Amino acid sequence: MEDRKCTGCNCQQGQDPRFEELAKVIEEYRDMEGALIMVLHKAQDIFGYLPEDVQKFVAQGLNLPLSEVYGVTTFYSYFSLKPRGKYRIAVCLGTACYVRGAAEIVSAIEKHLNIKVNDTSSDGRFTLEVSRCIGACGLAPVMTVNEDVYGRLTPDKIPEILNRYE
Ligand code: FES
Repeated sequence: MEDRKCTGCNCQQGQDPRFEELAKVIEEYRDMEGALIMVLHKAQDIFGYLPEDVQKFVAQGLNLPLSEVYGVTTFYSYFSLKPRGKYRIAVCLGTACYVRGAAEIVSAIEKHLNIKVNDTSSDGRFTLEVSRCIGACGLAPVMTVNEDVYGRLTPDKIPEILNRYE
């Protein structure tokens, strides 16, 4: 990519070394089939999420319309357009979990953290998400906090569990 310098917008590309890293990724993948998805995965690894200036940088680097990049990042739930917390809570809303009260678990977490689904707590610690079945239906209702799995949840267990991640 010839033009990596910021040209006067408010983005951080000029000072942020992560854009140099992303530029290398783009060079590596640009001629491969499915380059856009692969580059976006790497970009999310580098930045933790995909802010608008990163999406623009990818579009420019791969010579794609920005609308095509937005189309991918908004379609796949894997991609996050907002910063994520240090701990990602995912409450399973699969059928077994749902019938055993997963919605009340979501409500209890929302109340405890004062956020809604897909939001991040103001201290940057937690992001609350919902997921499909994770294959632990025997433990329903289930949630994960990063790699930790919690089953047979009831709303009253939520504060104690989340306080472990202070
Ligand atoms: S439905 Fe929740 S783990 Fe299967």
